Amino acid sequence: MTKYIINGGRVLRGDVMISGSKNAVLPVLSATIINRGITTLTNCPDISDVRVTMDILENLGCKVRLTKNEFGNTIQVDATNVTSSTINADKACKCRSSVTFLGALTARLREANVAYPGGCTIGERPIDIHENALSDMGINTFRGDNFIKTQLPFTCRGEACTRNIYLKFPSVGATENSLMAAAGLADTVNIYGAATEPEIICLGNYLKELGAHIEGLGTGHIKVKGQLLYNKENVAFNIIPDRIEAATYLILAAGAGEKMKIHSTVAEHCKETVNVLKHMGCVFKEHKYTCGEQKLSVIELKEGAYKKRLNSPGIVVADAYPAFPTDAQSLLLPLLSVAEGETYVVDKIFPKRFNAAYELVKAGADIRRTAFGIKIRGKKSLKGCDLMSHDLRGGAAMVIAGVLANGQTCVFDDDFIKRGYDNMPGKLRALGASITECQNLS
Ligand code: EPZ
Repeated sequence: MTKYIINGGRVLRGDVMISGSKNAVLPVLSATIINRGITTLTNCPDISDVRVTMDILENLGCKVRLTKNEFGNTIQVDATNVTSSTINADKACKCRSSVTFLGALTARLREANVAYPGGCTIGERPIDIHENALSDMGINTFRGDNFIKTQLPFTCRGEACTRNIYLKFPSVGATENSLMAAAGLADTVNIYGAATEPEIICLGNYLKELGAHIEGLGTGHIKVKGQLLYNKENVAFNIIPDRIEAATYLILAAGAGEKMKIHSTVAEHCKETVNVLKHMGCVFKEHKYTCGEQKLSVIELKEGAYKKRLNSPGIVVADAYPAFPTDAQSLLLPLLSVAEGETYVVDKIFPKRFNAAYELVKAGADIRRTAFGIKIRGKKSLKGCDLMSHDLRGGAAMVIAGVLANGQTCVFDDDFIKRGYDNMPGKLRALGASITECQNLS
């Protein structure tokens, strides 16, 4: 348990560098076992979900090394020898993305034996879409008490054929598992109803680096022409910036920033978050630049709550990409709690993802349940108090509330924040926030 002590009401100024994307690096790390060679990933965040996944890779027989450097860390995975297809519950339960080893292990070893995944308690987290997709590909799947097993029958390794799979919902994880499993088949697989998130495109581009032929990344129909074996000796691949971390600092800038620049973002990935903040009265300026082959942007805050009280955007609907992201929904709540007017919030991805909202009531927020989500009536300010974090983005939302509130806030966090944010306290202190952390409270 970590306690973050925040003295609120400070003005944020200066620059923040966005790290590589948690939700992109995790599936790509799973996918590295498909290749019988070395993969070097750059711009990786050093977060606990990454450390857990590195542990899983080592248990599977890989050699893994993280090298820290100022401009994004590098992770090298040598997957020449993958000796096990099993991931036990003690590792799998630590993060949701362990489930994506199902597709990766099936592609490499023709079988997988993975304990049920963990992940934030933000609502139902079933895996039926994953299982149905793999079955539709001709992969045998078996569900144990708390294991899922897959096996690729020999019949699937004969003459190439075309297989069509249909996802009943554009599940990000199920699309990732489908991409990796399909990459390991000598067939052509059409994935209909696929998720279109930037993290899917990133994973697909990595699989293309290995040699898979993939069309339609970023659309609802992805066509994969895989192969039975990948053995690229050395693959170098760069991880995209984290659009949810970027949303976190955009919201902090809107609520407490005077002069703030958010570096190393892909503006397109943050479009809906910026649109909601502009709708509330913020003004941003985008400065484009290139870093290697990546087209990046610095998003500069020109006007936020520092200049004038922000207005309610009326309604916020979290939905699949490119809509406003569900992962930014909790983060926005503290800002909506001090905006002028009433806001209705609906989350179509995780309809029950409102633990952060009920926690903010302790800080004086006026938030009530509605039939479809919550209604927030903006108050002049939030008051510092003790707050619990219930999940990763909910924890970050409590920190945002502490930065905006008057007085001192203590956020009690069962190390959710460290799962997805690389050095959040350090980045906040560099912007002028007053935040200290006490480790390992009993
Ligand atoms: C990924 O989770 C992200 N996690 C989540 O981010 C993110 O909130 C989510 O996608 C939606 O964008 C990672 O990438 C590690 P889904 P995932 O499968 O893949 C239902 C964060 O804070 N569903 O797209 O688990 C499910 O219940 C985390 O970074 C099924 O019904 O999300 C949910 O309502 C939190 N059956 C909806 O689909 C299934 O088999 C979306 O889930 C799978 C999902």
